[in-house]
Amino acid sequence: MAGNWKMYKTPAETTQFFEKFRPLVEQSEHCEIVICPPFTSLAAAVDAAKGSRIRVGAQNVGWAKEGAFTGEISGLMLQAVGATHAIIGHSERRQYFCETDETVLKRAQAAIEFGLTPIVCVGERLEHRESGNTEAVLAAQCEKGIAGLTEQQFAKIVIAYEPVWAIGTGKTATPEMAADAHRTIRAQVRQKFGKDAADAVRILYGGSVKPDNAKILMAQPEIDGVLVGGASLDPVSFASIVNF
Ligand code: PGA
Repeated sequence: MAGNWKMYKTPAETTQFFEKFRPLVEQSEHCEIVICPPFTSLAAAVDAAKGSRIRVGAQNVGWAKEGAFTGEISGLMLQAVGATHAIIGHSERRQYFCETDETVLKRAQAAIEFGLTPIVCVGERLEHRESGNTEAVLAAQCEKGIAGLTEQQFAKIVIAYEPVWAIGTGKTATPEMAADAHRTIRAQVRQKFGKDAADAVRILYGGSVKPDNAKILMAQPEIDGVLVGGASLDPVSFASIVNF
């Protein structure tokens, strides 16, 4: 169960969140919990999560270890601050910051090199779905993005299916729609990495996941977890999703 805070919360707000959130998920041993704050709040989150099962992830990762890349943060730096995960290829990065399947692949490789678990996002836009191209778009994103990983690298990633039209819009994909898309992604994985890899990879659903729809989404065997934006900002609401 992963929370993507996007560009919200200062270090002080992060500490306040964890004070409320930690006791609410102390008994939640059925899943892994990851919170992804902005870079500047990572240290506060790692500190506040110490001694708990909550892990902390970044929202992006540079593809080089270090170098002349103004504005980038490397896997080495994330590892040093105590992050364990990194979201890669979120649709907002693709849409506003020119992220491509090629850079997604490079970032995923770099994350793995520094021991981070990449949460690689894929998902179709509304016009793709309306024109019947959802499968083709997902297949292309898998083909150009994750298929470039080695088998050993692939075993380390988590995939997040996030239909762009469902993000921050209040329009959730129906559980059946989400499960269908997850099957398409798993089929792509099977083709490239084989059945065992396809069975083992965890695929999260993201897009307007809220406390009142988490349970029906999680009831789909195809859906292994969720990536939550807006509803992860409030400790009570995210805890109730975690404890669906
Ligand atoms: P949302 O965002 O839950 O606010 O729709 C999900 C995401 O962008 O990961």
